[in-house]
This record gives sequence, C-alpha cells and structure tokens, in this order.
Amino acid sequence: MSENKIIACKTHEVAPGQQKIVQLDRFSVGVFNVDGEFHALLNVCPHKGAALCEGPVCGTTAATDGRDFTYCKDKALVRCAWHGWEFDIKSGEFLVDPSIKAKTFAVSVEGEDVVVHL
Ligand code: FES
Repeated sequence: MSENKIIACKTHEVAPGQQKIVQLDRFSVGVFNVDGEFHALLNVCPHKGAALCEGPVCGTTAATDGRDFTYCKDKALVRCAWHGWEFDIKSGEFLVDPSIKAKTFAVSVEGEDVVVHL
C-alpha cells in the first residue's frame, strides 16, 4: 500500500492546545498540537458525521475514590460540537466507548513542516 505524505502546515501555525483544519487531497483533516506533539484526525465525527475537528479542544472529568470528580486530560481531547462526544486526540478513541474511534493519521515533523501521512 502506498503512503501519501502531504505537508499540512508549518509548526508555528498550530500552538499547543490549538488545532488547524486543512484540506489534504480529498480529506478535511484537523492538525492538533498536544503539548508540542502534532496529531491529525479526519474532520468527520464517527457518531453522526459532524465536522469533529471544529469542536473545542478540552479536557474531561474523571471519578476519584470519593464521590467527587477531577478535571484531567486538559487540551488532549476534542469535543464534537454536535452532541458533545469527547475523543482522545492522540488515539482517536471515544472516551465512553474506546471501540469507537475517530480516524487518525500518522504525523511527522520535517524541519518546520507538519507532514500528514494519508
Ligand atoms: S456527530 Fe459528533 S457527537 Fe454526534
């Protein structure tokens, strides 16, 4: 299977905690910067097909040993704007059911270029 490497943007265009949506070949792709690491997701939500990558980059809450909860994974998730499903940007996994995944693409940084491997 051949791999199609496409320059998506420059590293300085996506600050930590931010995303940039680009058109690569026939795909709309969200490029995300999570703590200085770049990741790419197909801009299609696996729930009902909304533009997933236009949603907010956020964290989520997790249970503690007690009755309260704590905020975690800050800036490591994207929340779909349609129905609020939260996806891990690195793995594409839906937090509630990891068997449901947003499509991810491999990313490399070559000099100042963020390269997505379609
Ligand atoms: S379309 Fe994304 S959560 Fe429903």
